[in-house]
Amino acid sequence: MSRKDEIKSAYRSLGKAHGIYDGQMLGTTRIGRFMLKHVWQMTREDALEYQALSFEAIPADFAGKLLEVPVGTGVLSMPVFQTLADADITCLDYSEKMMATAEARAKEMNIQNVCFQQGDVGNLPFPDETFDVVVSLNGFHAFPDKEAAYKETFRVLKPGGIFTGCFYIKDANAHTDKIIRRLYIKAGFFTPPFETVESLQKRLSTMYSEATVRNVESIAVFQCRK
Ligand SMILES: C[S@@+](CC[C@H](N)C(=O)[O-])C[C@H]1O[C@@H](n2cnc3c(N)ncnc32)[C@H](O)[C@@H]1O
Repeated sequence: MSRKDEIKSAYRSLGKAHGIYDGQMLGTTRIGRFMLKHVWQMTREDALEYQALSFEAIPADFAGKLLEVPVGTGVLSMPVFQTLADADITCLDYSEKMMATAEARAKEMNIQNVCFQQGDVGNLPFPDETFDVVVSLNGFHAFPDKEAAYKETFRVLKPGGIFTGCFYIKDANAHTDKIIRRLYIKAGFFTPPFETVESLQKRLSTMYSEATVRNVESIAVFQCRK
């Protein structure tokens, strides 16, 4: 099986168990809080902090074209998209199962300005300079071809556009690094090589006219302007 298919299969099973996944992301279930604490060494407040920072660069009255890749189950993004009634939002993911949950969530929340498209971040099905904002939450640690993902997210962004989001970085928490190495890579959820805060800052500063990177434990949050 190719790495892409391994990842798709891992996230297909997660799509079915999205209650567990969502609980961990939000710290709303007992198992979710257990994983936040014992895998990520984060409190619920830490998780909410990195999630809020990931959206901070998007103006509250944003009315342009926004791409989210990967949308996953939409657990973090849909509550924000619900507040962006004038935006034109496209959500993309490689896994139909994860995205089916996001689509159902958008419907349930009556979000009408969002469309969903299955695809590969390494080969985005959009012309150059299509979007005003590209959001990427917890994706780059999973993507098999990270170089292609950095190039494609940059390519589809308009000049002056915003690239923002978050993902796992190594060397910020040794305990988390050990669990990622022993479990998450083997399960197909994460794919090396991983950035550090410093390598990510350097990479994004080289590509973008402005770039800031911060971290909450092992999650880096980035905000860039093209
Ligand atoms: C950890 S989830 C993150 C989902 C969501 N953004 C969140 O923060 O909850 C990673 C997602 O990346 C998707 N993915 C992995 N490789 C991909 C690729 N090459 N192109 C698009 N999506 C991909 C997986 O299907 C999965 O839904």
